[in-house]
Amino acid sequence: MTLFSPQRVGALDLPNRIVMAPLGRARGAPASREPTALVAQYYAQRASAGLIVSEATHISAETVSRRGTTAIHTEGQVAAWSRVTDAVHASGGRIFQQLFHLGRKADPALIPDGGWPRGPSAIAANATYATPGGPKPFPAPRALERSEIPPLVEAFARAAANARRAGFDGVEIHGANGFLIDQFLRDGANLRQDLYGGDVDGRSRFLLEIVDAIAGQIGANRVGVRFSPHPLADGTQDTEPGRLLKHAATQLEKRAVAYIHLVEPAETPVDARIAPIVRQNFSGPLILCGGYDKTSAETALREGRTDLVAFGVGYIANPDLVERLRRDAPWNTPDPDTFYSGGAAGYTDYPALRPVTERA
Ligand SMILES: Cc1cc2nc3c(=O)[nH]c(=O)nc-3n(C[C@H](O)[C@H](O)[C@H](O)COP(=O)(O)O)c2cc1C
Repeated sequence: MTLFSPQRVGALDLPNRIVMAPLGRARGAPASREPTALVAQYYAQRASAGLIVSEATHISAETVSRRGTTAIHTEGQVAAWSRVTDAVHASGGRIFQQLFHLGRKADPALIPDGGWPRGPSAIAANATYATPGGPKPFPAPRALERSEIPPLVEAFARAAANARRAGFDGVEIHGANGFLIDQFLRDGANLRQDLYGGDVDGRSRFLLEIVDAIAGQIGANRVGVRFSPHPLADGTQDTEPGRLLKHAATQLEKRAVAYIHLVEPAETPVDARIAPIVRQNFSGPLILCGGYDKTSAETALREGRTDLVAFGVGYIANPDLVERLRRDAPWNTPDPDTFYSGGAAGYTDYPALRPVTERA
C-alpha cells in the first residue's frame, strides 16, 4: 500500500491516495463572491490529486469573512463554480466542495441588514479579526434560538445541491477549525441546555441533521465530514474529544458517508491520537491531515492508520505534488505573504517539475 494505490471513496474511484486539503486563498471576486478564471486555473493545475477538497465556501449571504472568500448560494456563483469543476474534470481530476458557516467567527460589520454573528452560545472566540482600523477581538455572538436552527440546516442542504449543480463530485461538511458546526460540537463553545447542547449526542445533533439533509439531496456517498478534535488557539475545544469523535464516527458509520477527514498533526503523541478511535468506529475511508511529508504519510498508510493523506501547504506551493511525491523530488517553498494576497503571484505561478524526458 502506497500513496499511489487506488482507493474507492464513496461514489468515486480515486487513482491515488493523495488529497489536496481545503485551502482558503481569497482569490474570489470581492462583491459577487464568485470564483474567477484564475481560481479555475489554480485547481486545474492540481488535478492530479486523487481528490481535491475546495476552499471553505460560504453557504449563505449571512456568513462573510475576509475579502475574496467564495460562496455557493447564488446562481452566478453556481455558474462560476461550474467553470472551475469543468476545468478540473477536463484535466482528469475530481473535486469536492467544502461547505461552511462562520458562526461566531463572522465579521459583524460585513453581515447584511445589520445582522450580528450567531453561534450555539453567547461565547466569543478567543481571537481577532481584521478590520480597516486593525485587528479587533471577536465579539460574543448571539445564541441561536431553537427556531433558527432548521433554516441553517436547510441552507447547508441547498448549498450542497448547488455544489452538485455546479459539477462538484461531492461536498465536505466543514465540522473543523472552530466554525459554526465545530462550535456546536465542542463543549467549550456550546453551553446550550436544549436538544442541541449537553452531552455528545446533543452537541452532534446539528452536524448530523446537516449530514442527513445533504445526503437526502445528493446521496451519503458524496458527503465527507471534516473534524479537528484537538484544541484550537481561538478557544474551541472539548473536554473529552475522544468521546465526542467516537459518537460522531459511530453515527457517520450508520449513515455510510463517503469519508471522515481528520485534522490531526502527524507528530501527535500516540496516546493523544484521535484517529484510532475514529477508525474503530467508522469503516469507511479515513483521510488524515496535518504536517505530513512522504515518509510520514506512507508510514501512516502502511501501518493502517489511515487510507488517504491530505496535504495543505504542500499543495499551495506544488501544483504537481503527486509527481514530486512519486519522484522523491524536492518541494517548492511556500510564501505565506501571498496565501491571501489576491492575484496570480503565489497562487498559479509556482513552477511544476520539468517532464522526465526533458531532464537528461
Ligand atoms: C492558507 C490556508 C488556508 C486554509 N484554509 C482552510 C479551509 O478553507 N478549510 C479547512 O478546513 N482548512 C483550511 N486550512 C487548513 C488546511 O486544510 C490543513 O488542515 C493545514 O494546513 C494542515 O495541513 P498541512 O500541514 O499539510 O498544511 C488552511 C490552511 C492554510 C495554510
